[in-house]
Amino acid sequence: MKNVAVFASGFGSNFIKIHQNIEKGIIPAKLALFVSDQKDAPSVSYAINQKIPFYVFCAKDFTDKRVYELHILEHLRKQHVDLIILAGYMRIIGKTLLDAYPNKIINIHPSLLPMFKGKHAIERAWNAKEKKTGVTIHFVDEKIDHGKIILQQSIDINHSSIEELTDNIHKVEHDLYTKAICHVLEDLK
Ligand code: GRF
Repeated sequence: MKNVAVFASGFGSNFIKIHQNIEKGIIPAKLALFVSDQKDAPSVSYAINQKIPFYVFCAKDFTDKRVYELHILEHLRKQHVDLIILAGYMRIIGKTLLDAYPNKIINIHPSLLPMFKGKHAIERAWNAKEKKTGVTIHFVDEKIDHGKIILQQSIDINHSSIEELTDNIHKVEHDLYTKAICHVLEDLK
């Protein structure tokens, strides 16, 4: 059984779904660590309530990314983490973690990459009056929302409001991330 870590900065609906699917045995892995850079994020309360080992840090307490990533790495190694799953982690992964986990860091993005990289991807697709958008899961490299695509699913934009579209994207994300994690775990065997 492989050990996974989930990194999140925000609400954590993807993190919760991943945890639930691990508990149900749908994702064959152990959730060994949760990492967040936001101590007040709802995802942190969830990790505490569910007794998931966690590491929460404040980037401002460190001189630079290399130093805080070395601390993260220490926690990852202590928990023997094999795969890092980013789920709304709002920091760019640096060389320290990329070198320690080559092709073992994955991310989810709410657009059909390479379109709408970066923040507010759903809103930008909506405002651009696109006919479709989607969800992409990819390996992480040194560029933002870049790296080999693992799975992608398109979603028609025929919703009545951006809120409805956002809800729909999140629903697709939850199922697609589980599928992608299972694929990646299979390849790690
Ligand atoms: C998701 O839309 C994901 O694609 C993006 O950040 C959002 C996180 O949502 N990277 P949640 O915190 O998992 O609800």
